[in-house]
Amino acid sequence: MSATAPEKRLYIKTYGCQMNVYDSERMADVLAPLGYGVTDSPEGADLVVLNTCHIREKATEKVYSELGQIKRMKAARAEAGGAMTIAVAGCVAQAEGEEIMRRQPAVDLVVGPQAYHQLPELIARAHRARGERLAADFAPEDKFDALPAERRPEGVTAFLTVQEGCDKFCTFCVVPYTRGEEWSRPVEAIVAEAEALAAKGVREVTLLGQNVNAYAGEGGLAGLVRRLAKIRGLDRIRYTTSHPRDMDEALIAAHGEVEALMPYLHLPVQAGSDKVLKAMNRAHTAESYLRLVEKIRAARPDIALSGDFIVGFPGERDADFEATLALVREVGYASAFSFKYSRRPGTPAAAMPGQVADEVKAERLARLQALLDEQQRAFNAAQAGRTLPVLFEKPGRHPGQLVGRSPYLQSVHVEAPERLIGQIVPVAIEASAKNSLSGQVAMAAA
Ligand code: SAH
Ligand code: SF4
Ligand code: F3S
Repeated sequence: MSATAPEKRLYIKTYGCQMNVYDSERMADVLAPLGYGVTDSPEGADLVVLNTCHIREKATEKVYSELGQIKRMKAARAEAGGAMTIAVAGCVAQAEGEEIMRRQPAVDLVVGPQAYHQLPELIARAHRARGERLAADFAPEDKFDALPAERRPEGVTAFLTVQEGCDKFCTFCVVPYTRGEEWSRPVEAIVAEAEALAAKGVREVTLLGQNVNAYAGEGGLAGLVRRLAKIRGLDRIRYTTSHPRDMDEALIAAHGEVEALMPYLHLPVQAGSDKVLKAMNRAHTAESYLRLVEKIRAARPDIALSGDFIVGFPGERDADFEATLALVREVGYASAFSFKYSRRPGTPAAAMPGQVADEVKAERLARLQALLDEQQRAFNAAQAGRTLPVLFEKPGRHPGQLVGRSPYLQSVHVEAPERLIGQIVPVAIEASAKNSLSGQVAMAAA
């Protein structure tokens, strides 16, 4: 414990995507100068921030059930003569706004994703008057200009948001409504942030954006990757999430040429039936996606591919679903996320005819996941016997063990001394499971 413990305790719970993880870190940065130090339990916290996700109904409902519990802690705190402020941030805040306070009056303030720099003011206002409690207007440039330049990276790998928002309007998705238009940060600001991270010992950055490969700063995402690859100490670059439509020749070429760009690509396809893809407004076909994958693999043959899938989109028949399975078999994924279609109010698909029964969705999801799991196990098993460079990130669960990542984003468990954290070390892979690899340091790590 440090002698200069901060006077106020901040608990942040993060839901949803990595962009929320990044935003949560930045909220902690904004609040640190006000004396808030991060704590890992809401119990006894002075400020609780729920950084929420609206992507599926379940994600939204989780927030309300969590609020119910935190409300009880707030009441207990008040009884003991203390005070707890509850803030709801993120995409539910953006989508539902003040409605949240109507549903859960214990909430003191609601703040949308583009207004985190206003948090100190909003908190002060909530304290004073419980007045003006909503800040959810879009102006991303203000957000990044006003956030403190100083970041306190927690480890050797860090997220770095380079792009926000979405102009694609897939008919199932709330993101274009919660995160606004596509917007890119200027190259210089990103380079400065990455240099500062590298100076603090960060060895790997993951560039983030809802449509990261639509990055529209000078040189596009390929230019940005090439620029960041020059920063000393920054040995690994990743990016997520990409839309197939924005996967341009320059970026594909970078995968073959830039050593720091890791051979892993999250490239969601969503479905394998052209009829469904069209109704989803995805602007690609199964065939064009497969051709794209072929091109990417020509540039970087060992690339690990990952994707997102939705089953049970309105109008999806058995034959459409079979087309998704066929596409998965043809591509061969190293990892994947798959979901039952969730009807989101206000999105075009919510009003489409042919909504699919939940039992059908569940059955399709189980079949798809069985296939994807099998592919993931096979991909992991194929690493046994190879020696892979592993970036050690932190101690593992067992004493004397470290956890790191392979170039393909697999977790790797190794018996190794703690001083190797932050280093990229060759590891002889011996065994694999569904979610991880294990092995031994392959050289005398003096
Ligand atoms: N911008 C990214 C990620 C968006 S959200 C992209 O386009 O890939 C992450 C994933 O959630 C999506 O890829 C999609 O598979 C899933 N998703 C989005 N809306 C959904 C909904 N209404 N029901 C089920 N899954 C959904
Ligand atoms: Fe949602 Fe589609 Fe935009 Fe991804 S590309 S965020 S799935 S609308
Ligand atoms: Fe969820 Fe918002 Fe991310 S809806 S997935 S937190 S952009």
